[in-house]
Amino acid sequence: MVIVDDLSHGKRANVPAGARFEHLDIRSPEAAILVREGRFDAMFMLAAQMDVRVSVADPGADASCNIIGSINLLEAARHATHRPRVIFSSTGGAVYGDASTPPSPEESPKDPESPYGISKLSVEYYLAYYARTHGLDTVTLRYANVYGPRQDPSGEAGVVAIFCQRLLDGRPLTVYGTGQQTRDYVFVTDVAAANVLASTAKLPGVRRLDDRAFNIGTGIETSVLNLAESLQRAAKVSVPVEFAPKRDGEQQRSSVKIDKAAKILGWKPQMRLEKGLALTYAWFNKPG
Ligand SMILES: NC(=O)c1ccc[n+]([C@@H]2O[C@H](COP(=O)([O-])OP(=O)(O)OC[C@H]3O[C@@H](n4cnc5c(N)ncnc54)[C@H](O)[C@@H]3O)[C@@H](O)[C@H]2O)c1
Repeated sequence: MVIVDDLSHGKRANVPAGARFEHLDIRSPEAAILVREGRFDAMFMLAAQMDVRVSVADPGADASCNIIGSINLLEAARHATHRPRVIFSSTGGAVYGDASTPPSPEESPKDPESPYGISKLSVEYYLAYYARTHGLDTVTLRYANVYGPRQDPSGEAGVVAIFCQRLLDGRPLTVYGTGQQTRDYVFVTDVAAANVLASTAKLPGVRRLDDRAFNIGTGIETSVLNLAESLQRAAKVSVPVEFAPKRDGEQQRSSVKIDKAAKILGWKPQMRLEKGLALTYAWFNKPG
């Protein structure tokens, strides 16, 4: 196994023992050579600029990393001596927008609200193009809001990490607006399992964008207020909840339908929210 990361956001300490690590930018010629000559069976495309706010502040930088970086890897995979199956990490939390009623199936209308959602959806179109035109074996996984140990507060499920830190500091949990806005929280080990299954599953051919796209979530909508309560129960810590003004442009409801992943990938989420929150809190609460 080879892991490529430019460490712009990731940590060297998270690379598992036994994996080869290449400190490279996915836009670099060196990363392309690695993919072309590495004889990999699967290429998991996780490296990305994943902060929605950064994408709003600097859409060009977001597109450079997420779109140009992905094209570099896809071109390399197309010309590889041994072509890998390509498994792309996209976002069910950001590509559907408020255009569809949750839980959104894969064929829902796409209407991303942010440059980040647009760059992810663009790469999905490139995957479909490479599959149809060049016969590349591609899969898209559209994650809901991923949470778990080691998560960063700036990610799509950042609220879990932020709330964990608040509980540890004994500070109030800040809820924007009514707290009734919903998200679909999926645990990180369930997402890892989906990637493994997607790397070997027998899949249909690609004619349209959604043919090889799979939602990876729970199908369950959890409101911010419910999350705050569940986390406090799981952590066995209680702090006040304080309300702040609604944030402009915030999506009100989000969850993804997961029947397709169950049927074709044989995947189902295993982790219940409260247990996952307890494991996440325990990680934030660890000594050192
Ligand atoms: N966390 C979520 O809730 C969520 C939801 C939907 C989709 N995703 C997607 O899943 C993937 C992983 O997300 P994450 O939350 O673990 O984010 P993360 O920031 O922890 O991981 C992304 C990694 O990519 C690396 N990276 C960034 N730019 C790079 C570049 N140009 N070259 C090489 N490496 C680069 C970073 O250093 C980081 O280690 C991303 O593609 C993200 O868009 C995440």
